[in-house]
Amino acid sequence: MHKLINFQIFGDERGSLISLESFKNIPFEIKRSYYIFQTSPNVSRGMHAHKNLKQVLIALSGNCEIIIDDGKNKDKISLNCPSQGLYIEGLVWREMQNFSSDCVLLVLADDYYNEEDYIRDYNKFKNLIN
Ligand code: TYD
Repeated sequence: MHKLINFQIFGDERGSLISLESFKNIPFEIKRSYYIFQTSPNVSRGMHAHKNLKQVLIALSGNCEIIIDDGKNKDKISLNCPSQGLYIEGLVWREMQNFSSDCVLLVLADDYYNEEDYIRDYNKFKNLIN
C-alpha cells in the first residue's frame, strides 16, 4: 500500500517550515532517517522490497520518481515538493529514478537498518506475493 501525505506548511513572510512527528503526520514511530543526494545522472536506486518496513519518502529539494510495483500493477509517483510525503508499507517492489541533480530525498523509517528485512531478488519477491 502507498499513499501521498500532504504536510501542513507553517509559512510567513520569513519563509516556510514543516514539522514531522511520529503518529501525527507520520503514521509510525520514526526510528531511522536517511537521505539520498548527489545522485549520479541516469541512476536507479532501490530495486528491492521490504518484508516489514514502513517508510515515508520526501523530496526536500529537487525531484525524482518512485516506481511502486505490487506484483500486478506499477505506479509511478513524482516527488517534487517538500510538503508532500510518499508513505509506503507492505510487500511492494520499489525503484527510485530520474533524480534531478539537486534532489535530496529524505526517507523516514519505522525500524533500524536490517539487511534481513530486504528482498533484493525480483523473482523471490514475485514468489512471495503469489
Ligand atoms: P542501498 O540499499 O544500496 O540503498 P538504496 O536501496 O537506496 O539504493 O544502500 C547503500 C549502502 O548504504 C549499503 O551499503 C547499505 C547502507 N545503508 C545503511 O548502512 N543504512 C541504511 O539505513 C541504508 C538505507 C543503507
